Amino acid sequence: MGAKILDGKLIADELRAKVATEALSLSAKLGRRPGLAAVLVGEDPASHAYVKSKQKATNEAGMVSFEHRLPENTSEKDLLALIAKLNADNAVDGILVQLPLPKQIDTARVIEAVDPAKDVDGFHPMNAGKLSTGLPSLVPGTPLGCIIMAKKAHASLAGLDAVVVGRSNIVGKPLAQLLIAESATVTIAHSKTKDLKEACRRADLLCVAIGKPEFVKADWVKPGATVIDVGINRVPGADGKNKLVGDVAYEEVSKVAGWITPVPGGVGRITVACLLVNTLRAAAARGGLAVPNL
Ligand code: GUN
Repeated sequence: MGAKILDGKLIADELRAKVATEALSLSAKLGRRPGLAAVLVGEDPASHAYVKSKQKATNEAGMVSFEHRLPENTSEKDLLALIAKLNADNAVDGILVQLPLPKQIDTARVIEAVDPAKDVDGFHPMNAGKLSTGLPSLVPGTPLGCIIMAKKAHASLAGLDAVVVGRSNIVGKPLAQLLIAESATVTIAHSKTKDLKEACRRADLLCVAIGKPEFVKADWVKPGATVIDVGINRVPGADGKNKLVGDVAYEEVSKVAGWITPVPGGVGRITVACLLVNTLRAAAARGGLAVPNL
């Protein structure tokens, strides 16, 4: 029997509809619409596509999107000056600096420059620290999307053997923290793990975020396991055009897994919806209002 599909579009659409309703009532209370500033440096086509879809979703949810596109050769000083301006701008509730940044810019310094109250990506060390100590914080969208997906397959994640493949600050580490908060038993595996295949095979819940196309194969997966694929990789398709594939070999793994997220149409869709939730939260908190629970 094939795996059941966790449909990211369906789940994201539900969440976005709730955000739109809350944004309307919050706008009435604040006397303005919640605002998200997106900062994009350089010409990376994938980053342009991501930012465009985030802006479209922001507008569709009844929030304001501010766009800042800077050339590839932008200096760190100029980028920091823009962030300082956005930090001080009352119409801006959330600031999103699309990563990766060009080589001349120190990413950590930029992340630390964003006001933690406007850090809708949840990347600031203040928010990362709050997450790891169980305090309320702005949580990165992709790991939050993984948890939302996993909870569609399991009423509770408590006691599950969860394996996270990948240890990035954006996905792997915060996802592990969120899974611990859900009382899962968490292993973080990565490229130096002694026997990665064996580590994956122990998972009831396998989350993969390594950026390697179709890396995880069917015999890496415990029969019936839930597989959450965070990868979005562009590879040449049979027709010569590029196609998107995940970090999991979908065709073969879906024959073994109990539940699986497709790529595209999986976690990526929910990531954007979670960014909107964070913008709403940031706007409410900045206005001294109750933060809607979505
Ligand atoms: N680059 C890859 N993923 C992300 C993300 O979630 N946020 C930002 N800002 N950049 C990214």
